[in-house]
Amino acid sequence: MESYHIRGGNKISGEYSVKGAKNAALPILAATILCGAECQLSNIPQITDVNSMKKILNELGCKTDTSEETVIVDSSELVADTISLKRMREMRSSVFLLGALLGRCGSAVISQPGGCNIGSRPIDLHLHALRMLGTEITEKDDVIICKASKLRGAVIEFSFPSVGATENAIMAAATAEGHTILKNCAMEPEICDLQNFLNSCGADIHGSGTKTIHINGNSALHGGNHRIIPDRIECGTYLVAAAATGGEIVVKNAESLHLKSILEKLIETGCTVGVKRDRIYLKACEKLTALDKLITGPYPEFPTDLQSPFLTMLTLAEGKSYVEETIFENRFAFANELKRMGADLLVEDNHAFVTGVKELQGCRVAATDLRGGASLAIAGLMAQGETFIEGIEHIERGYADFSQTLRSLGADIRKTND
Ligand code: EPZ
Repeated sequence: MESYHIRGGNKISGEYSVKGAKNAALPILAATILCGAECQLSNIPQITDVNSMKKILNELGCKTDTSEETVIVDSSELVADTISLKRMREMRSSVFLLGALLGRCGSAVISQPGGCNIGSRPIDLHLHALRMLGTEITEKDDVIICKASKLRGAVIEFSFPSVGATENAIMAAATAEGHTILKNCAMEPEICDLQNFLNSCGADIHGSGTKTIHINGNSALHGGNHRIIPDRIECGTYLVAAAATGGEIVVKNAESLHLKSILEKLIETGCTVGVKRDRIYLKACEKLTALDKLITGPYPEFPTDLQSPFLTMLTLAEGKSYVEETIFENRFAFANELKRMGADLLVEDNHAFVTGVKELQGCRVAATDLRGGASLAIAGLMAQGETFIEGIEHIERGYADFSQTLRSLGADIRKTND
């Protein structure tokens, strides 16, 4: 079993270039099914979730060709509409294929994606939107069978601005007959990227990035070329690693507009932050200041995916911090491992109270989710002594070359095979 072996105490400093956004690449790869032609996608991150998505596309009959960070998908031949249980278990994002398959061939069969360590993650909002567009859905023994002889435009209001449900509705409505209006949508940048990709293939979608999205269905989409946006969460993770270890970093190829709430909070802890075109500069201060309030929320509020790295950073800040997680019900699960490293924090439901301590002690910990796992690596960098992190497959789902990037920034980290 592979693990990371970290010797703490080094500052994270230097230059690094942001990779393509995992949470844009996955829905856009799924959306290529709608085109029935060849699409070229660049700046695709080389992570295991992307590999899983490519395997699903191949099993559906699509041809994929990868060279470094460019993936060509030819979806002209589609031979199946079913996602296997194995693939669904590998990656929850396979639920994105519902909208794409329905929009392309009017049928899709998936198994209930199931929960993960950060929460139950139901898909009721996805299914409600697809039903509104004319999909018949039957659920039997965890298998979800979707049929739509004809998808028709509708007015759909989400009870919660779900990212995935918004994306699934966009993909199903893109080729539906007539006009669709989506209300109370998620506004994440990755949704704008999906809109831009689909419009490059002949779709007629407007409003992504706002609460209301308009879609005029077009049944004859064609192939397109698209460059995936930078990964704001990966970028934020490395900024936090530098801040948490007293380092100084320049991040290149970043889109600072996507990180507004994050940069504001880093400045609040006492870091010096500068932005110039696609570069973000951060210099940590001697001793970080605690945050009175860090509350996650739908974009443009503070992103839930950076709550764990910030919570970790705050364990050595001066003073008491309050962190509230409003998106996922179990995103503090990794905090128990932080406590084993000497962090002084109290978790009650979706609230965490952190009191800064003098130091953390390295020990053997286990990653159980993507962002919590990356945060444990940051804790290992911050700690005295050695930290061994098991379950690194969770981390490598969403961070390309994670240990190599940290090593290039000064970390004493090695991947070992226990
Ligand atoms: C996307 O997940 C991201 N994943 C998540 O990133 C991210 O944390 C999340 O959006 C929020 O920003 C991808 O894009 C692949 P949601 P998604 O639907 O779409 C509830 C990472 O670490 N909900 O916005 O699953 C849900 O349980 C991952 O990169 C329903 O109740 O998130 C959650 O509490 C983690 N019913 C909340 O809404 C539904 O049908 C937000 O979920 C759908 C969601």
